Amino acid sequence: MLTYKYGYFSPDGREFIITTPKTPKPWINVISNGDYGLTISQTGSGYSWRTHAQLNRITRWEQDLVRDNWGKYIYIRDNQSKKFWSATFKPVCSEPDLYICRHGLGYTTIESVNEEIKTSLTVFVPINEPVEIWVLKLKNLTDRKREVSIFTYLEWLLGVAPDWHREFHKTFIETRFDQNLNVIFAKKRLWDIPSERGHWNADWKYVAFHSVNRDVESFDCDKQSFIGMYNDLHNPSAVVNNELGRKCGNSYDAIASLNVNLSLEPNGEEELIFTLGSADDFNMAKNLIEKYKSMDQVKSEFENVKNMWDKIIDSLYIETPDESLNVMTNVWLKYQTISGRLWGRSAYYQIGGAYGFRDQLQDSLLFLYIDPSKTKEQIILHAKHQFKDGKVYHWWHPIIETGLVNEVSDNRLWLPFVVIKYLEETGDFSILDEKIPFVDDPEPASLYEHCVRAIELSLSKFSSRGLPLIGGGDWNDGLNTVGLDGKGESVWLAHFLYKILIDFSEIAGKIGDVERREFYKENAERLKQTVNEIAWDGEWYYRATKDNGEKIGSKQCEDGKIFLNAQTWAIIAGTADRERAEIIINSVEKHLECEIGPLLLYPAYKKPDPFIGYLTRYAAGERENGGVYTHAATWCVVAEAILKRNQSAYRILSKINPANPNKDIDIYCAEPYVTPGNVQGPESPLFGRAGWTWYTGSSAWLLRAIVDYILGIRATFEGLYVDPCIPPEWKSFYVKRVFRGSIYMIEVTKTSEDTQGSRVKKVYINDELFVENQSNKSGVLLPVFKAGTVNKIKIIM
Ligand code: GLC
Repeated sequence: MLTYKYGYFSPDGREFIITTPKTPKPWINVISNGDYGLTISQTGSGYSWRTHAQLNRITRWEQDLVRDNWGKYIYIRDNQSKKFWSATFKPVCSEPDLYICRHGLGYTTIESVNEEIKTSLTVFVPINEPVEIWVLKLKNLTDRKREVSIFTYLEWLLGVAPDWHREFHKTFIETRFDQNLNVIFAKKRLWDIPSERGHWNADWKYVAFHSVNRDVESFDCDKQSFIGMYNDLHNPSAVVNNELGRKCGNSYDAIASLNVNLSLEPNGEEELIFTLGSADDFNMAKNLIEKYKSMDQVKSEFENVKNMWDKIIDSLYIETPDESLNVMTNVWLKYQTISGRLWGRSAYYQIGGAYGFRDQLQDSLLFLYIDPSKTKEQIILHAKHQFKDGKVYHWWHPIIETGLVNEVSDNRLWLPFVVIKYLEETGDFSILDEKIPFVDDPEPASLYEHCVRAIELSLSKFSSRGLPLIGGGDWNDGLNTVGLDGKGESVWLAHFLYKILIDFSEIAGKIGDVERREFYKENAERLKQTVNEIAWDGEWYYRATKDNGEKIGSKQCEDGKIFLNAQTWAIIAGTADRERAEIIINSVEKHLECEIGPLLLYPAYKKPDPFIGYLTRYAAGERENGGVYTHAATWCVVAEAILKRNQSAYRILSKINPANPNKDIDIYCAEPYVTPGNVQGPESPLFGRAGWTWYTGSSAWLLRAIVDYILGIRATFEGLYVDPCIPPEWKSFYVKRVFRGSIYMIEVTKTSEDTQGSRVKKVYINDELFVENQSNKSGVLLPVFKAGTVNKIKIIM
């Protein structure tokens, strides 16, 4: 069992069980059904939203990762002793006799024992409804009868977060208590997003509600009467005095508190259901409230959630000697990517809510293993956010459908990149004929045309020396002023564009667009030659040039002498030949790799440089300034594996694997079950501390690095290619993967002592010999089987 200080994975890996409320940082879950969502930390804090965590927040929350003291809470009061505590650690912070927080797929359960009463709170979001359910169980652990009062507490936000000018915003919120339904309704008369007329003067268009399936004893919607002027959330006067103000209307600082009283028989148990939601209208709200009065309904929806996640999780399964890789691949990287990045788009370190053009496209690569139709939906959604000249939004907001247009040079190219991956996976070329409008033109064009416009806009933005212009940055957002005057160049982008040109020319060829096939090939070859001629710095490629021609990421630089992406992508894209590839990967290992993984650049910038970008303004070692940026670090694993450097590939993978149990968790601080955006580099006093968990593009890519490159099972136009690059100590592994509708059960066994360990020697398909003693390549191409079949593949290496 994988155990860490503060917690462990359940035997099936589907829960991470935290055994104390006092983890080094908030360890959270992001629960979402793609519309409604919430975050919940191990202390019980967090917030809720619908569709967009920033534009349409339901409850208030402040980003304070030290106090973590904003949430939706439940107080329990023993009316005989008058002692009270909370069902979760916050906000009362009594020292419980037992405390367990189980973060699962689509739910979190927090159990605790206080004053000889055991509580268990399960929070989940049903699959298709804008509501969250809280099931609270209480068990009397004594043989005397107990009289308890339960109080809930949350602060309404209802709109754009944060509502920092609360005195202004509170005046628009209206609350109402309905005795028959046992619910508090809340509406807001103002939503400060622009209306069609460009001004804000319209209602928040939902109806929020908070209900319970018992008779409510009392309620309050006024923060002041609940907390008391000189009390606080850990000792609110309403709970101290067992008395709620029964105030509602639109004159208060709006909260919701429902009070239910219970008798607990000796050793007896009670179970309550609370809801919190944001419905389209009163009718929908009423239906949800009625529906979730019944424990049977709750149980069946909870089962639906679990079944949905089981289905998602089960489609790709691996078994390797490394348990921490297995649990991340089989469960948590999928969950993080889907629940956190694609559906929720929110977390503690970043509230998000918007779609990043390159971000969610890359995340959607994960669905290729599970349900490629979801990748297709994402591709089409992003294509709709492209302009007719080929440029795209950097990010855009759902709900208001506005976005940021800037000069970042790589965004648009992720569209063809992901389309290529989709085609390799599915072989479904009909996607290229999908007709999709542009942001600024309702006249639809084919997806092929969308990709072509993205590529050709990029081809039109080159320097006179023949390298792509970086504009307002590339994948690295922090290089945002390198090329604002239209001269600075990006070497990483040269590699990336080369790859897209090569792969897309193949696609053009396959659909008979011979002219483009040749045009892209010629451009690719020219680019490869140029990048090797002028971007070579002796032992690595430099990263970019500024508008004034100065190099970034070169030996000549004082800080930022070498950048990771300009090396790894030369290998991934194939711009570097074998000899250069070995030189640059050695430089990466020598200058960038440290005990926590490969740094994004080194040395970190110490002085802000107005002609590089804001990354030079971060503290040294922080985020893109000389830390391990996990997203980019996954590409290092890929590059090592492409070069068949199996020991290095696995070493680097192990360093960045968050579930690797060899980490000192008090230094690392973050959740072991999800990837962090970054880990602080050696020039930081917090060297080794991880942050920005959940909301990071690294989860989808880490899974890809493991499955496609370490295990080496990857989709190609022709079929599934298997070319493992496993560490010498592994003797075997197993993968179940769905590809084009059939199941591949792949068992790989290593018989030779070859330390490179990477040549496929013999292959049996359904017990029949398929390949023996191939000498021309190290991997094997498996055929595409009839959809619906299950196929046993035995590979001997
Ligand atoms: C953030 C952005 C992502 C970008 C990365 C590197 O994660 O969301 O789009 O590529 O930073 O700057």
